[in-house]
Amino acid sequence: MVVSVSPATVPVSATERGSYWITTFGCQMNKADSERMAGILEAMGYQEASAELEADLVLYNTCTIRDNAEQKVYSYLGRQAQRKRRNPNLTLVVAGCVAQQEGESLLRRVPELDLVMGPQHANRLETLLQQVDSGQQVVATEDHHILEDITTARRDSSICGWVNVIYGCNERCTYCVVPSVRGKEQSRLPEAIKLEMEGLAAQGYREITLLGQNIDAYGRDLPGITPEGRRQNTLTDLLHHVHDVEGIERIRFATSHPRYFTKRLIDACADLPKLCEHFHIPFQSGDNDVLQAMARGYTVERYRRIIDHIRDRMPDASLSADVIVAFPGETDAQYRRTLDLIEEIGFDQVNTAAYSPRPNTPAADWDNQLPEAVKVERLRGINALVERCARQRNTRYAGRIEEVLAEAGNPKDPSQLMGRTRTNRLTFFSTKGADGTHYKPGDLVQVRIEAVRSFSLSGTPLPCR
Ligand code: SAH
Ligand code: SF4
Ligand code: F3S
Repeated sequence: MVVSVSPATVPVSATERGSYWITTFGCQMNKADSERMAGILEAMGYQEASAELEADLVLYNTCTIRDNAEQKVYSYLGRQAQRKRRNPNLTLVVAGCVAQQEGESLLRRVPELDLVMGPQHANRLETLLQQVDSGQQVVATEDHHILEDITTARRDSSICGWVNVIYGCNERCTYCVVPSVRGKEQSRLPEAIKLEMEGLAAQGYREITLLGQNIDAYGRDLPGITPEGRRQNTLTDLLHHVHDVEGIERIRFATSHPRYFTKRLIDACADLPKLCEHFHIPFQSGDNDVLQAMARGYTVERYRRIIDHIRDRMPDASLSADVIVAFPGETDAQYRRTLDLIEEIGFDQVNTAAYSPRPNTPAADWDNQLPEAVKVERLRGINALVERCARQRNTRYAGRIEEVLAEAGNPKDPSQLMGRTRTNRLTFFSTKGADGTHYKPGDLVQVRIEAVRSFSLSGTPLPCR
């Protein structure tokens, strides 16, 4: 939709394009979108700027999952709006979830903006910028069928790549803004996903993370029933389908929803050697009444059964989750049930957040909101426990030999590489082995773990066998 005509921007040809800067807030989905948008900008002739305040085009890819994420965007925008008043040729773009949530009202709040575009429009960046070039302020937030991505993403890593498999979310968790900003589920075809993975493998990528807000919903919108009457194109089918891409050594996926996480999926992860033994399965609360109020559609008992089956098949698997504390009406006893579940399961990592009321979500209108002081207190309590658990879980690595995929140099110590274990533990090790071998990003290295911290490991590479 074209909102108004502003003379602020003078049309430019591709050869005159300047530099761009992208700041990304939020989840992996946004990071993957940013990589695609950076690829589009470079194909248009933009070059990456060396500093945000020098860029000719600034794009904020925004997140609105909690109020503080949204507010951060406004403070960044204030700075750029001032710059734009001095330099009318600056192009200002807000993409992502705040753009979708606020739409046109963002233009009223920050009239200096050139383009406001929701996440479904990420692949259309070039077309939208052409409209901007012709002197228009543009808002693109209408529902959009996401076109197959034919652009070349400009990826941050040259070893580990993200591949979207499903966009959007059809769940209705009562606290969550994602369905209203990311739209309905749209699965990509298995062939397109595999083709993208083959392309990445040819460029030297070794690890792929398949992405979706609710990745277990993959394929629900695709046709196909097997002769036995089972739905085809499930996430499990997809994993089997893409497993043989040569050159890709590791496959991960996120985010899993306990409601749809199946035994068949767990068995596939155990049976397929490239599937890594790490599972990110948010449980949100350890109390069944809170889970019901959140409309999550599972119980703590079901969650435990999933974990039991994972540990049955892959005893060393690492587990991470997301949790919300101080959900409306959460009692002290209910909060403690969440703590108990964390202790009982022994998570490797838990992302925690205090409940934040979001626009257009049912829970935001309930009158049993908890005071800020309770949120702060519960968050502090849970974070202390999470760190203790993570440190305790990490002790199991001491002295062990782990396969680490080297991803990049350690920015703080050039004599070291950093990478991850199959269980997703960040690990540092020397670029040089005792036998003189020089390791580089992309190598799969056997590392003897010598130092264990809460959120990382370090060790010595072992001679190649
Ligand atoms: N699709 C995933 C996660 C989506 S958002 C899932 O279903 O679990 C990432 C995390 O942000 C959520 O897991 C939740 O823990 C947190 N979150 C979402 N909405 C929130 C809110 N209103 N307040 C606080 N945390 C929230
Ligand atoms: Fe939000 Fe629930 Fe969808 Fe996750 S599954 S994105 S928490 S609505
Ligand atoms: Fe944030 Fe949007 Fe992701 S709200 S968490 S960037 S889907």
